[in-house]
Amino acid sequence: GLKKKEVNVLCLGLDNSGKTTIINQLKPSNSQAQDIVPTIGFSIEKFKTSSLSFTVFDMSGQGRYRNLWEHYYKDGQAIIFVIDSGDKLRMVVAKEELDTLLNHPDIKHRRIPILFFANKMDLRDALSAVKVSQLLFLDNIKEKPWHICASDAVKGEGLQEGVDWLQEQIA
Ligand code: GTP
Ligand code: MG
Repeated sequence: GLKKKEVNVLCLGLDNSGKTTIINQLKPSNSQAQDIVPTIGFSIEKFKTSSLSFTVFDMSGQGRYRNLWEHYYKDGQAIIFVIDSGDKLRMVVAKEELDTLLNHPDIKHRRIPILFFANKMDLRDALSAVKVSQLLFLDNIKEKPWHICASDAVKGEGLQEGVDWLQEQIA
């Protein structure tokens, strides 16, 4: 058959936001992990959509590993940025990390698509995707296509909509 276009994606966001859980859900069921543990450093994962073959750099969000992120910016063709919608206390930390990312020389002047997941929407006190986008000032992102989806990575809800959008941006 036709060879799918290969795309490198960076999966970024604070620790415990649900990055690995999201990526695990997107993988074919026979290669999904049963237990998800905090990522050490980073892990490379693969999944396919109808037209694309994604290689994901699933980065650790822990403070001590966040300095690794920038080494992969050059090779990233798309970004998935995950936010824990229930973690109101650290929303400002997520915003700081996002701003640092957007101002990085390897990212700043590139028209690279960013998919945001306002994850953990199942939590009783979760903020809506609209509220998360306001707190992160996403409307200020003018030079890059971006999109935000509410998701529940444990149940796998909201993920497909996001990946469909990402595929449209790249295909
Ligand atoms: P690091 O690798 O440390 O950066 O964390 P991570 O962003 O990869 O988070 P991970 O996927 O390991 O998930 C952290 C915890 O949140 C796990 O206990 C998950 O089961 C849980 N979790 C992930 N997504 C959701 C969600 O949508 N809802 C709820 N309630 N829990 C979630
Ligand atoms: Mg992880």
